[in-house]
Amino acid sequence: MLNNTCAAGTKPLRVLVMVSGGGTNLQAIIDRVKDGTITNTEIVGVISNNKNAYALTRAEENEIPSLCISPKDFETRGIFNGKLLEAVESFEPDLVVLAGFLVVIPPEMIRKYENRMINIHPSLIPSFCGKGYYGLKVHEAALERGVKVVGATVHFVDEGTDTGPIILQKAVEVQQGDTPEVLQRRVMEQAEWKILPRAIDLIANGKVRVEDHRTVIEQ
Ligand code: GAR
Repeated sequence: MLNNTCAAGTKPLRVLVMVSGGGTNLQAIIDRVKDGTITNTEIVGVISNNKNAYALTRAEENEIPSLCISPKDFETRGIFNGKLLEAVESFEPDLVVLAGFLVVIPPEMIRKYENRMINIHPSLIPSFCGKGYYGLKVHEAALERGVKVVGATVHFVDEGTDTGPIILQKAVEVQQGDTPEVLQRRVMEQAEWKILPRAIDLIANGKVRVEDHRTVIEQ
């Protein structure tokens, strides 16, 4: 377990990170816990749906317990959903962080972790979000539309797709000649890897509350 428990007398936030791929957002969280930018936080585990995800190597290198659970290994989605929830609960998380987790979250889990589960999305919601918009597809769509500003959003997860209360957003400029890959990297570097750790730190220090489906942030 990786932790940074500086705030005297406060119980560290138990964070579970869920991933599917490279895990650069996971790495950003790990690095910010290590250097003390994220305070009062313990990364208690990593769950991947993909056994080949490089994110699992990152977890191992940092001695964070991890496990892989894939819908492919179960006969029905219902069985997988039950097992996934069981796996999540085994870490007893206070906060679940979807950091590039590309599996549909079971409704039961969404209800159970209401305002305790956050997601990073690589666009300025409500642009380029919802069903079918994930990973590189988001950046392909932004370039196709010709927008000049893109960005990333951290939001709480509710029962819709990318519809939950927005916590933080950061804008990034599109540059002439960008490819989806180049734009994706810039959005990660300039937005995702900054706002996701920041959101976790704010939550860990009790500075985020939800009122009427909107967040109020105490800076
Ligand atoms: C990130 O760009 C994240 O915003 C995106 O997947 C990528 C994961 O990269 N998530 C979504 O598109 C969710 N709708 P990573 O594994 O290197 O963190």
